[in-house]
Amino acid sequence: MIDKNIKKQFKIFQQKVYGKPLRYLDNAATTQMPNDVLNEIFEYETKYRANVKRGNHYLSEKSTEIYENARKTVADFIGTNIPDELIFTSGATDSLNLIARAWGDKNISEGDIILVSEIEHHSNFIPWFELAKRKNAKLEIIKVDNDCNFLLNDLDIDFSKLKLVAFTHVSNVLGVVNNVKNIVKSIKKKCEPFDVTPRFVLDGAQSVSHFGVNVKSLGVDFLAFSGHKMCAPFGIGGLYINRDIFDEIGEYKYGGGMIDSVFLDKCKYNSKVTNRLEAGTPNVSGAVGLAAACKFLNNIGLDNIFDHEKELASIMMNKLRKINETIIYGPVDVKHKSGLITFNIGGIPPHDLATILDTEGVAIRSGHHCVMPWHMEQDLKTTARASLYLYNDEEDIDALISGIQKAKKIFKVN
Ligand code: ALA
Repeated sequence: MIDKNIKKQFKIFQQKVYGKPLRYLDNAATTQMPNDVLNEIFEYETKYRANVKRGNHYLSEKSTEIYENARKTVADFIGTNIPDELIFTSGATDSLNLIARAWGDKNISEGDIILVSEIEHHSNFIPWFELAKRKNAKLEIIKVDNDCNFLLNDLDIDFSKLKLVAFTHVSNVLGVVNNVKNIVKSIKKKCEPFDVTPRFVLDGAQSVSHFGVNVKSLGVDFLAFSGHKMCAPFGIGGLYINRDIFDEIGEYKYGGGMIDSVFLDKCKYNSKVTNRLEAGTPNVSGAVGLAAACKFLNNIGLDNIFDHEKELASIMMNKLRKINETIIYGPVDVKHKSGLITFNIGGIPPHDLATILDTEGVAIRSGHHCVMPWHMEQDLKTTARASLYLYNDEEDIDALISGIQKAKKIFKVN
């Protein structure tokens, strides 16, 4: 169970929006930060702020120790006890671009196949689209059915050429939680006759903060995620890289901290992956905030968080479905879903709906949610999306429903 007063731990909920309590239902875009996280960042910034790995004075050593401890905490949160498998990045988008550059440029050649699903967020699509273009490789697409199941048996590709598979753990538009283990197993099986083992990239942006993710049990080589979607600050995130493939990793960004030696006519890069991939001064206070967020979520319990979201998602689904003219995208059974629901109310453009809801203090997202290809395939321009998190409650859902009723009146929809 989640403490009924949890909102009190988030200062942002003390304010009113247009005189109404804030009903924040845009958590798939960004989550809010609790006081614990803000306090830890404040403590770091006011007591220990110094550049890391570059000085031998007290503050620099202390700051380096705090930064590396944050790495341990975050690594542990996603299920690896090897801190070097966790690279700090600026977020999931950065992590995915990092793979495309540091792994992709080194390992993808002309004619190779990169496989992605049609429901990927742009961050897990464009880096592969561009990588394929750079290398003259082929980008192939896994189609999904109405319930978001991957239609792997419909794939008509040359599995002997398959080098990389990238897909999302939880769809940010359909909310479906993919069965990662089964997808990986099934693709590996199709590659077996050719003695080929592709690398697997999992986009965990919508999963790691909502339920316990143990990267070691999923069988993927990379896991990307963002701090701002898990109660941490913007501009920090993580990338898990399985150490078994460290020798396949090249460089991403060039600069200080990632070198071994630099001469005017040659450069040698650091053999330690965490150093090589974290060029420049890292976002230390972001890492501190991310580690604090991991501790905060662990204290509440990831199982409790997911149970809470599911319970609310089920209530929200039932109430939405009772409204005439509601179209739900993705499965209506919340069993295999996280706490987000994408929908349309016939006769009300999603942006207008979001604007009317906003006047009631209710924040939702409208648009294509950075998943334009899927919307285009469905012949849809935009949808509305309400996404839940640990601090939401039934009153938030009631405010959403009565805001929708108000919009229906304005638009004269029955
Ligand atoms: N990926 C974020 C969303 O779904 C931006 O809203």
